[in-house]
Amino acid sequence: MCGIVGYIGRKEAYPILIKGLQRLEYRGYDSAGLALISEQSQLNVYKAKGKVADLEAYCSEKDISGYVGIAHTRWATHGEPSSVNAHPHFSASGRLALIHNGIIENYQTLKDKLSKRGIAFRSATDTEVLVQLIEYIMISNNLELLEAVQVALHQVIGAYAIAILDRNHPDTIICARQSSPLVVGLGSDGSFYLASDASPIAEYTDQVVYLNDGDIAVLQEGETLHVVNIDNVTQHPKVKQIDVTLGQLEKGGYPYFMLKEIFEQPGCLRDCMRGRINADRDKITLSAVIDFREKLVSARRIIIVGCGTSWHAGLIGKQLFESLCRIPVEVEYASEFRYREPVIFPDDVVIAISQSGETADTLAAIELARKSGAFVFGICNAIGASIPRQTSTGVYIHVGPEIGVASTKAFTGQVTVLSMLALTLANERHTISEEMYKEMVVELTQIPDKMEQALKTNEQIERLAPIFTYAKNCLYLGRGYNYPVALEGALKLKEISYIHAEGYPAAEMKHGPIALIDSEMPVFVIATRDKLYEKVISNIQEVRARGGRVTALVTEGDERITQIADHVIELPDTLECFQPLMVSIPLQLLAYHIAVCKGKDVDRPRNLAKSVTVE
Ligand code: G6P
Repeated sequence: MCGIVGYIGRKEAYPILIKGLQRLEYRGYDSAGLALISEQSQLNVYKAKGKVADLEAYCSEKDISGYVGIAHTRWATHGEPSSVNAHPHFSASGRLALIHNGIIENYQTLKDKLSKRGIAFRSATDTEVLVQLIEYIMISNNLELLEAVQVALHQVIGAYAIAILDRNHPDTIICARQSSPLVVGLGSDGSFYLASDASPIAEYTDQVVYLNDGDIAVLQEGETLHVVNIDNVTQHPKVKQIDVTLGQLEKGGYPYFMLKEIFEQPGCLRDCMRGRINADRDKITLSAVIDFREKLVSARRIIIVGCGTSWHAGLIGKQLFESLCRIPVEVEYASEFRYREPVIFPDDVVIAISQSGETADTLAAIELARKSGAFVFGICNAIGASIPRQTSTGVYIHVGPEIGVASTKAFTGQVTVLSMLALTLANERHTISEEMYKEMVVELTQIPDKMEQALKTNEQIERLAPIFTYAKNCLYLGRGYNYPVALEGALKLKEISYIHAEGYPAAEMKHGPIALIDSEMPVFVIATRDKLYEKVISNIQEVRARGGRVTALVTEGDERITQIADHVIELPDTLECFQPLMVSIPLQLLAYHIAVCKGKDVDRPRNLAKSVTVE
């Protein structure tokens, strides 16, 4: 949700900024812009509606010289996507340029005040208020930029990660964060890199500082990083090492990141389990559980919070914890939970699931849970993000950077961590037998190999995909552990192909969606062999009886469904609770190939952003 990049050093800034924007484009892609301080100390700002490539084309005949610059890729909140509303925004005199990720909630009040004092606004954004306010304070109180930023931020309500250039101080970038991520990279040559996440920085340095809420950093080439808070108290940031490799940030020969990430899943799950499941495959060790055993094992209740795909993983977690650990679980949309005045007990464990670790609603839900005295456990992918830093403890899913906007490997990574956590707690609570525990641990370690098999359905699915491109609506049915997978399958299709799709518990279909079924309506049924198999066959018959077209995901060797479904996709058998890991693969591939057939930009679906850092 908006991406920020910055550079100050001895190299040309423009190529670093453009490459950085490309790496962050998954965060927003309706417009982009950059500001450079040229060799003649001019402050040049270039902006374009559309993707980073449009900005590059726009800049092709401009003065792009300079060793200091900031850049931004936008996901619009206030003001339509246009070059005027794109960042950077100038101050009234043209001396300052500012980029921003987040939302200034009191922007209208501030704008009214400044307008009364004669300041004219050019854009419809909340962001412009910030740059105008900072300059107004700077001039009217005769302050230095840093002081003016501190005074201005005292007046601002909302979320922000900002970076500012000052034409009069071409040797400095000032940046600040509050509830929106910002990472500073420390170059070995005295340079500084700045970005919303570590991906644009990884190819230049592995030394980074994740700014904390309230931090304001002053970046000056050759100087040590200076960080203060809004009250000018010096902060002492910790330097961390990032472990992102360049290969993880490239498409590696695949046409889209999404396809690469689908195919990466067996390796990702091996990474996720590495060091956590022993070589004898009879023991799971999660250090978070060792450190906080009592809290977790004696949980009176688990509340899982998350958004989007992470919420779907939470629904699978509920079934795992309830059936294996006998702990009652509630699964909540973080956005609802935070405003619902939920009852939270001090002996509840709240599990926050998030790929990015930056989702604003999930962060707010964590804050609420912490204030209520609950123990908060994070399941996150992005290392060093806000959620792992704000939870009491947690587990990284370790699936590597996920760049495709539609989440794939993060989902299966989340389900794998939830499975390991549920098995660990079940073993500690003696709610499953030792034999069952061991059998399940062994089976979990076999999932990556079985996923390799499941990925072989790719060619079949690619051939089937054109049949579904005409569809206006699709129905995804599943039961038990596979109901959340039906929701997730439908979400994938909606996100990238723009076909309306609904996920439904198969038996509930007759209470409504069955009215929609006709020969035009593709119905995807998850009908793997489990305890509800017979029931799902009846549901397939109900669809068939109304002329519906059934594509069934079945366990390999299934002969009965082959007789009644229009198409079957066969998958390796596994335990019922791990079937979501298997079934997700063909559903991801289906969404992918249908979207490709429809000519959609799979990695950058319209209106979406990968990291939702605003409410
Ligand atoms: C956005 C993304 C989804 C993601 C959701 C939650 O909507 O497009 O793919 O599932 O946010 O994000 P999180 O990073 O918290 O898992």
